[in-house]
Amino acid sequence: MALLPILVYPDPRLHTAAKPVQAVDARIRALVADLLETMYEANGIGLAATQVDVHERVIVIDISEERNEPLVLVNPEITWASDEKQIGDEGCLSVPGIYDGVERSSAIRVRALDQQGQSRELAAEGLLDVCIHHEMDHLRGKVFVEYLSPLKRNRIKSKMLKARRETERAD
Ligand code: NI
Repeated sequence: MALLPILVYPDPRLHTAAKPVQAVDARIRALVADLLETMYEANGIGLAATQVDVHERVIVIDISEERNEPLVLVNPEITWASDEKQIGDEGCLSVPGIYDGVERSSAIRVRALDQQGQSRELAAEGLLDVCIHHEMDHLRGKVFVEYLSPLKRNRIKSKMLKARRETERAD
């Protein structure tokens, strides 16, 4: 297992659309292990392969208090979404320190393969629903700040670029 560097917004590679996984093999299981390790190390509740510059449809999630209920979704597809909406505060390991409200459907059903390559369907609402929407957006190259107003988004972009310049100077 290995910790992977996480791309930081506005890195253009975050806007790459991921390709479907062809086979859940040892390579994909190694990627899943690395994604989980990277997510736990960063104290995140979700991570998409896109965020570590791997453009295949793999996401990992763990919303449990104890951080011991990993959920692995390979080639996830939303099969149903409620008409009812919810607005939850979202954050992202690729946009550190920024939290803002995004409107999402309040309940979904998702079909995906697990790390064994088995197809499964699950229902999600609340935080899990938000998290799945958020991570699936990453797979199509979308970062949550793109739902915010252009004014807010530009402020966030400047803030991230400034932080990057400061880090580079410190190195
Ligand atoms: Ni994110």
